[in-house]
Amino acid sequence: MSRADASKLNLPSSSKIIVATHPVLAHKLTKLRDSKTDANLFRHLLREITFYLGYEATHDLAVIPKNITTPLGPHQGAELATSVALVPILRAGLGMVEPMLDLLPNAVVHHIGMYRNKNSLLPVQYYNKLPKDCNIDTAIVLEPMIATAGTIIATVAILHVWGVSKVKIISTIASKSGLKELFEQHPNVEVIVAAIDENLSEEGYIVPGLGDAGDRQFATE
Ligand code: URA
Repeated sequence: MSRADASKLNLPSSSKIIVATHPVLAHKLTKLRDSKTDANLFRHLLREITFYLGYEATHDLAVIPKNITTPLGPHQGAELATSVALVPILRAGLGMVEPMLDLLPNAVVHHIGMYRNKNSLLPVQYYNKLPKDCNIDTAIVLEPMIATAGTIIATVAILHVWGVSKVKIISTIASKSGLKELFEQHPNVEVIVAAIDENLSEEGYIVPGLGDAGDRQFATE
């Protein structure tokens, strides 16, 4: 994994972005992109890729000392001390929840439903299951694609209003322009991606991308 050089991506220099460069991840991402990959394999690959990205995204979670006894004696280990909310954006983010819960079994999951209006490409919220009170330290937004970033930008705003200041976003592929827009609107978010693609189609799809991540997971059109 590597920390991307924000200036080379034409992003504000303070932008916190991690781009995965691991060969195993590159292999799996290529299969994920492949239009010959069916929904079953797509879901499997998305789970695996999310686990790697989630591992990287959680690199700075606070831990406290934890005293235990191994079969051979006492040991001071560590226990995670950060309360985390996973925030999958419906519906494409659903396939990323399970591997994140494998990493963080104590995380809570709050769903947010957003879709992009096909004409305006603007995000429309249709579901929000955040509880009234916010008592978590870090929110991790799960969305496989950062295209125009409208949906992510709206989601981060909702999370800030809810009361969480530290927001991370895990995504498989981001567009350059989407990242630029995201960091302009929310300079303090941290983004963890497996790849950054150059272009967006007129319909707002990432090119070359992988198509519609929701359709690919659930075999719909
Ligand atoms: N959402 C997707 O699923 N794919 C894209 O390319 C853009 C947005």
